[in-house]
Amino acid sequence: MPLKITVIGTGYLGATHAAAMAELGFEVLGLDIVPEKIAMLSEGRVPMYEPGLEDLLKRHVVGAEGSTGRLRFTSSYEEAGQFGDVHFICVNTPQKHGEYACDMRYVDNAVESLAPHLHRPALVVGKSTVPVGSADRLAARLAELAPAGADAELAWNPEFLREGFAVQDTLHPDRIVVGVTSDRSEKVLRDVYTTPISEGSPFVVTDFPTAELVKTSANSFLATKISFINAMAEVCEAAGGDVVKLAEAIGYDERIGSKFLRAGIGFGGGCLPKDIRAFMARAGELGADQALTFLREVDSINMRRRGHMVELAREAVGGSFLGKRVAVLGATFKPDSDDVRDSPALNVAGQIQLQGAQVTVFDPKGMGNARALFPTLAYAPSAQEAAQGAHAVLHLTEWREFRELDPVGLGELVAERRILDGRNALDPDYWRDAGWAYRALGRPMA
Ligand code: UDX
Repeated sequence: MPLKITVIGTGYLGATHAAAMAELGFEVLGLDIVPEKIAMLSEGRVPMYEPGLEDLLKRHVVGAEGSTGRLRFTSSYEEAGQFGDVHFICVNTPQKHGEYACDMRYVDNAVESLAPHLHRPALVVGKSTVPVGSADRLAARLAELAPAGADAELAWNPEFLREGFAVQDTLHPDRIVVGVTSDRSEKVLRDVYTTPISEGSPFVVTDFPTAELVKTSANSFLATKISFINAMAEVCEAAGGDVVKLAEAIGYDERIGSKFLRAGIGFGGGCLPKDIRAFMARAGELGADQALTFLREVDSINMRRRGHMVELAREAVGGSFLGKRVAVLGATFKPDSDDVRDSPALNVAGQIQLQGAQVTVFDPKGMGNARALFPTLAYAPSAQEAAQGAHAVLHLTEWREFRELDPVGLGELVAERRILDGRNALDPDYWRDAGWAYRALGRPMA
């Protein structure tokens, strides 16, 4: 009998994981406590923008035309408990209000709600990013609450998907990491991931703490790499160097690598910022805070970038934002996503508006979410309309369509041809040839 899989929590991670499991051939039941999400997903619609996800969902969700019917959704834990052999926990773990620590309430609720319905052998697999030590605690809770007793086991299987590439990263992961306490759990997870393993994805088996730490340390490394290049951008600005050339040159060293060396206004989103903070908080609880004090600096370099972008823009418009119009291209924390959580672009837009400018934002996919978070900013339906009459245009999220803008045409709409590239993603010569003053973080003036 093929394994039956449930996926608890149908946000970014869970919706993608559920559809991907159906794609791999399993019968899947997705569970969420938000009825609107269940209603949408059951109709084959995805509550966020993620390339390829809606197609994948439609290919498998029960009732969609021509679908395999392998995927359906529910809000009943009882149904999930009866249905599944393997239960993936994919709920979110946000930052606690007013502190750095991770808020575990959704993971805890998921385990507490599911466990009493586990009457037969089952594997509960945590995928959410959690503080190290959580899996041990949750395994004990599971054993206490599940009628199946020791036959209800826990495993930890962190997820590394990137927004914008969620489907690809889930179906073809660059590694699969499983924290297990028994051979049986390992075997079940090898069965679940037979296809990616056969395609060559490395399968790394660890204990619980290591599996939990792999995720937080990977994100810390990525954040550190970005802040490193942003620190170099600061030095380049002071010394008259060019951080883009510098990144290219050091990136040819295979030990360094060229990825994640794009200097700009820094990282944001629902993962890196809160994960490094939660990691510092957890290390403090464990008495290992000294090991992670560098992450405070990583965080601080990152946050400084936003302020620096504001200063650069203020300087560009003559020293004061009062009476100036500023066009902001990009609101999401990265391209190919509609996610505006902790978005550097929106943060910069908000700061500039607070300093007296009239700020108009355009983003290809993030307008709805941006409006909800920053209702006081102005929004325009296109880059051209946002740029109308602007004294400065700020490029803050590197969507492809912004790289394809025609600087000549756009130049006719603005009050002053002044572009500030917060992502080092535009071609300076292309813009300068069209009469624009181009400025970017960590690069020389002309
Ligand atoms: C990240 C991790 O990459 C992923 O493995 C993990 O599972 C979740 O967190 P994601 O939040 O989707 O994924 O974003 P990512 O692509 O890592 O980018 C994070 C931020 O860093 C974005 O704001 C991006 O614009 C910024 N960034 C990235 C840079 O500023 N410079 C770079 O060179 C790369």
